[in-house]
Amino acid sequence: MNVNGQHYRTIWLKETDNKVVRIINQLTLPHSFEIRELRTVEDIRRAIKDMYVRGAGLIGATAAYGMYLATFEGDLLRSAAILKDTRPTASNLAWAVDSMLAKLAGAAAMNPAQKQETARLAAQAIADDDADYCRRIGLHGLDIIKAIAAKKGGEPVNILTHCNAGWLAFVDYGTALSPVYAAFDAGIPVHVWVDETRPRNQGASLTAWELGQHGVPHDLIPDNAGGHLMQHGMVDMVITGADRVTRAGDAANKIGTYLKAVAAKESGVPFYVALPSSTFDFTMRDGLAEIPIEERDAAEVRYISGKTLSGAIETVQLCPDSTPARNWGFDVTPARYISGLISERGICAASEQGILGLYPEQSHV
Ligand code: MRU
Repeated sequence: MNVNGQHYRTIWLKETDNKVVRIINQLTLPHSFEIRELRTVEDIRRAIKDMYVRGAGLIGATAAYGMYLATFEGDLLRSAAILKDTRPTASNLAWAVDSMLAKLAGAAAMNPAQKQETARLAAQAIADDDADYCRRIGLHGLDIIKAIAAKKGGEPVNILTHCNAGWLAFVDYGTALSPVYAAFDAGIPVHVWVDETRPRNQGASLTAWELGQHGVPHDLIPDNAGGHLMQHGMVDMVITGADRVTRAGDAANKIGTYLKAVAAKESGVPFYVALPSSTFDFTMRDGLAEIPIEERDAAEVRYISGKTLSGAIETVQLCPDSTPARNWGFDVTPARYISGLISERGICAASEQGILGLYPEQSHV
């Protein structure tokens, strides 16, 4: 997607030195656009853990490039374990690391240069597939938006989203926002309600920035506003991303998603989850019981950062000095609240039957 008119992906190899991985630093957005360079597995580990990069697809692609850098350092299995240990919820991470290990299975027989080139091509393929799958998700989701627009007589389609499942969360295009971009580019009037997404505010700092860069009309809303808007007919559909979806269609996504899904069902608003195939976990069925939920540092709840009126970036404490806090990063929306799943293969019901209709090769698992 474009930043100030120039095309960027969220991760790429430096043109003049392909042993250097470049990323957009998501910690400084929206106030400054900064590129960072990662040169070691440790740099990659820190970038994922400390959320310089985040979002299911981008975490996977970054880990894949981490395994590429690991071929310069030696112990592939140790690097794989280090990378997998960074964040537990998004399935894309372990999926990408395991895919890289599978591609490098014959590495013992390769010389170092062959091993490095094999890994570079494999990481590049994971990144390219991620971008292509997200582009296709946009086209499938566009059909849903078109159908709603046809009933609105030229009024904008109001879409609510939670967190950031735009291009910043993937290699390009995004999942939840890809249909929005496709609709906007096709001239369909759309408007997005952007949940701020406490505690890390991915909606306020990333989704709002992305939509602004693309020119898509949007309004930032407090996390608690969605139910009210749905009750008053101000939301035509909800689209979120996902970090892990079980074979039965239960979906883990950023904390707060479940509440939006419950409110949507209560108000008769369709609730869609968009995801590439790397986000399915076909080994799990019961999302509430089985999906690991990351618990992050309480400091993310106790403090907030932003730009002061004088333009300085500062962090302030929100609560009394001694207040303890808890910080679960994700929640699970049971399949019964989800109107449909949008993947690169099409749209299906959030049920085992629906999912296996799109992924028949997973029937045996
Ligand atoms: O903690 P994050 O920012 O890595 O959370 C992941 C997400 O971005 C969201 O849950 C998103 O909606 C799905 S992943 C694109």
